Amino acid sequence: MTTKPALPDPQRSPAAAAERHEAPERLVKSRDRVKAYGEVFTPRRMVDQMLDLVRAELETGPNFVDKTFFEPAAGDGNFLVAILQRKLRAIERRYQSEFWPTESLFALASVYGVELLEDNHQAAHEALLAEFVAFHESSGTSCGYRTNLYRSARFLLRVNVVQGNTLTGLDARGKPIQFSWWHRVLNIPGTVRREPFSLASLREAGAFDFTTYAVYAPCRIDHVHKEVRADD
Ligand SMILES: C[S@@+](CC[C@H](N)C(=O)[O-])C[C@H]1O[C@@H](n2cnc3c(N)ncnc32)[C@H](O)[C@@H]1O
Repeated sequence: MTTKPALPDPQRSPAAAAERHEAPERLVKSRDRVKAYGEVFTPRRMVDQMLDLVRAELETGPNFVDKTFFEPAAGDGNFLVAILQRKLRAIERRYQSEFWPTESLFALASVYGVELLEDNHQAAHEALLAEFVAFHESSGTSCGYRTNLYRSARFLLRVNVVQGNTLTGLDARGKPIQFSWWHRVLNIPGTVRREPFSLASLREAGAFDFTTYAVYAPCRIDHVHKEVRADD
């Protein structure tokens, strides 16, 4: 039996990109970074192919908005941005526009990541926030710096996409990485209950977790940045 080697797709080649006046994808920043951090980015085409495998969870199935995704080596956010894009497009198709602000925040609350390097972490934040803002501005919803929509989106990103080391479970300051579950409050649409947990606790299923976590009061998801505690 003979096998044919896979040929590069001519439409995706750097020459084809140049012809279309697109910047070619930059998959490697430097040899040193490849050596030290294994930093080679996944091409967008491959990201899309992988996400096609989980279309039900991302965009077509029940409760797709709340299905959680975790990127343990988030890089510049290429997977997280593609996940958010698909969820936002599905929200647009499946919900009436009055629900887009709330549902888009729940979508953002469903994506988690850890990235070791400061510049990549920063890039991931910026790309996710830009995607979120562009979605709202294209539909005529104000998402300026001073709006609750923007502030809550930025806050959710800060809590969900962390600079740190997935292998040690520590953040950039050497503290245990803490995430939060964002539970919808049943019967009160648009309301969320925040429940913190540590990344390490996901690995130690069944083990006792003695961390003392803050307890938050349920609140509107677009007020989540106000961090109102249950005992306030
Ligand atoms: C191979 S790149 C992949 C980036 C992205 N996931 C992709 O597929 O395009 C690996 C990324 O993981 C980060 N990284 C390496 N070790 C890590 C660790 N222990 N914890 C978190 N991130 C790490 C690197 O800084 C780099 O941005």
